[in-house]
Amino acid sequence: MKVGFVGLGKLGLPVALAVESKGHKVFGYDIKKEIYTQIKNRKIDYKEKHANELLKKTNIEIVELKKLVSLSDIIFVPIQTPHDKKYEGINDIPKTRKDFDYTFLTKGIKMISKELKKIKKKKIVIIISTVLPGTIRKKVLPLTNKYTQIGYNPFFIAMGTTIDDFLYSEIILFGSDNKFVSDKAKNFYRTLTNSPFFETTIENAELIKVVYNTFISTKIAFINSITEMCHRLPNTSIDEVTRALSLSTKRIISNLYLRGGMGDGGGCHPRDNIAMSYLAKRHNVSFNIFEAIMLQRQKYNHWLAEMCLKYSKKASIIILGKSFKPETNIVTGSPSIYLFNSLKKKKRDVYIWDPEVDKINLENFIKINSLSNKKICYFVGTQHKAFLNINFKKGSNVLDPFRYIKNRDGVNIIEIGEGEKI
Ligand SMILES: NC(=O)c1ccc[n+]([C@@H]2O[C@H](COP(=O)([O-])OP(=O)(O)OC[C@H]3O[C@@H](n4cnc5c(N)ncnc54)[C@H](O)[C@@H]3O)[C@@H](O)[C@H]2O)c1
Repeated sequence: MKVGFVGLGKLGLPVALAVESKGHKVFGYDIKKEIYTQIKNRKIDYKEKHANELLKKTNIEIVELKKLVSLSDIIFVPIQTPHDKKYEGINDIPKTRKDFDYTFLTKGIKMISKELKKIKKKKIVIIISTVLPGTIRKKVLPLTNKYTQIGYNPFFIAMGTTIDDFLYSEIILFGSDNKFVSDKAKNFYRTLTNSPFFETTIENAELIKVVYNTFISTKIAFINSITEMCHRLPNTSIDEVTRALSLSTKRIISNLYLRGGMGDGGGCHPRDNIAMSYLAKRHNVSFNIFEAIMLQRQKYNHWLAEMCLKYSKKASIIILGKSFKPETNIVTGSPSIYLFNSLKKKKRDVYIWDPEVDKINLENFIKINSLSNKKICYFVGTQHKAFLNINFKKGSNVLDPFRYIKNRDGVNIIEIGEGEKI
């Protein structure tokens, strides 16, 4: 295939070399002419595994944008989306927060679209640059025309090992509005790698990319808080702690507990965080990450309570589930009971029922509480299987943070965690 790269920076050039190494013809274009000198001299000034070896034998053709656009079957766009220098992470963060700068990217897309319009040919233009969710639709798509077939394909690579990370990626993340674009990209990737091709919406791809990175930051921040704690606690060692955690491949190093839903619960989790928060305070640990985790649980609960208020209006609220996890009657530390208590505090007409805990069935529960003739808003607080068979009252709202209740006539199911479809 003929593959074009608009942008041959620290991401673009190594990836272009990797694509070429798999037998494709590669064209390159960059507005920074120093890059061409690096390619001509067959040496880059940053450390990147395999890049210099591949540069020695490369036949990448540097061409003007017009030629690149007309010759390439697929055009990759790894143009920079820099952050203000102040946010680089080498000083305290400023008080205000800022989005990335999309000026380079939008200019590049405009230029490509203009060239495509001139030749009146539809081509696949795959953006790799990191952006915040919503950016492609708001800031990039309006600059395109019917000839620019956009796909969003951020990479999970680390500088220094870009080529191996690209060719042996955990997933190929691909966001698009257009099946033709993703099918074509999928076929192209099959010539490069066996990595799974993960197709999704543009917005999901944008979000997954930054969530992937920030998840890593969360792990680092968490373990560094423990590092500091170990330093302050006699006879503890961070390496011993991480050695044990690394062996815990079921709960910790796995996809368990990686589902959107209610806050954590049970006899251990909320309590352990509270206790650790106390310990961190006692030892003056510089950042109390446990406090932050606890506050997230609390604020999330308050947000869910607000959602109940929004959807119940004057209806009574029934929280389905008291136990802290499905198919048990243990209620210790239950996030659904916490939600019930938060709503009670707001003086709401709220009830809570659990098939594993309460002796009566839901119909009788509704009768006993004189709710038969009232409007009801349901909130699923525990993911019990039994709730799949509930006959919700017609006209009611059902808030489902687990997104497992099936749609049914006359009932409005609100899947918490699903963004509005636009
Ligand atoms: N470098 C990485 O490891 C990495 C990893 C994942 C994601 N990313 C993302 O990829 C994007 C690119 O990152 P990078 O590190 O390669 O940046 P970079 O600054 O090294 O390279 C970008 C290149 O694009 C060129 N460019 C800018 N506008 C252009 C235009 N209109 N036409 C042609 N070329 C143009 C620049 O001259 C530059 O050489 C960023 O959004 C970054 O966040 C980078």
